[in-house]
Amino acid sequence: MSDANETLSNLAHENRTFAPSAEFAAQANAKADLYDQAEADRLGFWATQARGLDWETDFAEVLDWSNPPFAKWFVGGTLNVAYNCVDRHVHSGHGDQVAIRFEGEPGDQRNVTYRELLGEVSKAANALTALGITAGDRVVIYMPMIVEAVVAMLACARIGAPHSVVFAGFSAEALRSRIDDASAKLVITADGQNRRGNVMSLKPAVDEAVASCPSVNSVLVVKRCGNDVTWGEKDVWWHEFVESQSPEHTPQAFDSEHPLFILYTSGTTGKPKGILHTTGGYLTQVTYTHRNVFDLKPETDVFWCTADIGWVTGHSYIVYGPLANRATQVIYEGTPDAPAKDRWWDIVERHGVTILYTAPTAIRTFMKWGDEFPESHDLSSLRLLGSVGEPINPEAWIWYRRVIGGDRCPIIDTWWQTETGAMMISPLPGVTATKPGSAMRALPGIGVAIVDDAGSPLGNGSGGFLVLTEPWPAMLRGIWGDNQRFIDTYWSKWPQYYFAGDGAKFDDDGAIWLLGRVDDVMNVSGHRISTTEVESALVSHPSVAEAAVVGAADETTGQAIVAFVILRGGLEGADGTSLVATLRNHVATEIGPIAKPRQVMIVPELPKTRSGKILRRLLQDIAEHRSIGDSTTLADPAVMNLISAGLESSSTDD
Ligand code: WTA
Repeated sequence: MSDANETLSNLAHENRTFAPSAEFAAQANAKADLYDQAEADRLGFWATQARGLDWETDFAEVLDWSNPPFAKWFVGGTLNVAYNCVDRHVHSGHGDQVAIRFEGEPGDQRNVTYRELLGEVSKAANALTALGITAGDRVVIYMPMIVEAVVAMLACARIGAPHSVVFAGFSAEALRSRIDDASAKLVITADGQNRRGNVMSLKPAVDEAVASCPSVNSVLVVKRCGNDVTWGEKDVWWHEFVESQSPEHTPQAFDSEHPLFILYTSGTTGKPKGILHTTGGYLTQVTYTHRNVFDLKPETDVFWCTADIGWVTGHSYIVYGPLANRATQVIYEGTPDAPAKDRWWDIVERHGVTILYTAPTAIRTFMKWGDEFPESHDLSSLRLLGSVGEPINPEAWIWYRRVIGGDRCPIIDTWWQTETGAMMISPLPGVTATKPGSAMRALPGIGVAIVDDAGSPLGNGSGGFLVLTEPWPAMLRGIWGDNQRFIDTYWSKWPQYYFAGDGAKFDDDGAIWLLGRVDDVMNVSGHRISTTEVESALVSHPSVAEAAVVGAADETTGQAIVAFVILRGGLEGADGTSLVATLRNHVATEIGPIAKPRQVMIVPELPKTRSGKILRRLLQDIAEHRSIGDSTTLADPAVMNLISAGLESSSTDD
């Protein structure tokens, strides 16, 4: 655990605390007694949360943990997720409330009420059925941030067809492997998306992927940008096919453990893991956390989560949590700098956003751009700010609070993962006196510990591995098609705990500080990318013999990808500069632009142990311009000198 120890020793010392104002505390949804309730009767507490949803059949048992790590929550209960997110709000008299305030990047706007959303979801559900999709069939969604993406997800949920949303920035190859792994029958996409003033076409990647995926019977295409598309026999236009369907659809209730979605995330090997989530427990926890952590007031709040639906944050806090709580929310299609660097603040002002949920990488980018952009807008509607995706450094936290939050908004730093499905560690905004940079403590109902290598729980002032000590309702139910990998990855280091892969520390007051990943997973702008995935992409290029990839600290993106590459014999004399550019682009083509290395360094050797394991720690020292650490376990200690000498003479970036 030497790498982890190094990370753990880099703990920020932060003594400032910010208690909620008396006004905020008085009106908060969650009061301190929530912790007491959960502590007194954890399962009873979760049953109460679950019963806030509409069940067709009540559950007979809260948790079946007789076959760990395979949990069953709310056993015997049946419900429909889309009904809970849409129909029930219309039935309770809120059909005219706006559910989605959509804003396209070019400035087009569309308000969708809950009644209209019900019609759209019903038509889409009928369309999916007409395309032969039945409960249990997998549907891949590869779409921009538009209303139809939300409608597509809800339509799948409505008919019990698990969706697998693939981030629209992923390459055709990444899309193909995900369609293939899930044997999806249908792909829902769009012609293109608006990005930074340009139309980026999406359909060609789908065409390429589907060409080698025999499981796919149809491709449903939303016309978003009107760009030219190639049309094949499997293709169906959304505006023709979905629009012609009946807006009536009777939802069917599904078992609490019916699969709701698969979402692929990077693990420590090259093959992404299809994280499986199910129905009742997931919806319970996203709804509970969304209501209590964001303090949502459906009558008055305008909620905005800036994530993409391609990530779990978009699933849990754009689609399922907010809609189950009858939120009114903003969805924005484009980038923060289109047409200018004040776009987000312009959106906050015009839509009167009250709750904003975003990522530290975005906050640091805005810090860099300068205070004048937020300061040119009236942000006084904001009353709560959230952060997710990576540790937020105290400077960014303080800036967020001061410049965006006007020193009046509580900040909630929420720790969770694709695997946890919903928030696990976070302040309660009306209760917790927060420390800048700390996610503070486990939410009521959640069990967290920090343990040493032997699995022994550590006390205040000690750093170690973050584990979850109790099953939780939104926990992943497995890895699609690979239960052994599920057990090996999360439950084998200490069988009694879920191992999250993060380092953490309790400070002297018992507040939790997250310290980043302790495995070979990088966190680039809040996106998880495994070092192995990028290495496999690099070695798939004909000129690369071997590659080692590390995440190096980066001021804006948290970590940046730095690759060390050995070229194949005969190519070593090639023009290094253009090859570096070629390799960076090759990774973007193989995985997607988010995985493009910041730097590719051509080296003559890689540092390896006698058993052939690459010592990434030493490469990280180089990437972060530190003096090189302990290299005594290297098979050939002279290698590091060779690498350093080679770098001085080679160009490392384009
Ligand atoms: C990291 C995103 C520190 C962590 C919801 C975790 C965080 C991984 C935080 C999951 C936070 C997420 N503070 N680190 N508030 N939130 N992380 O699956 O390393 O995309 O394991 O889920 O992001 O990333 P994922």
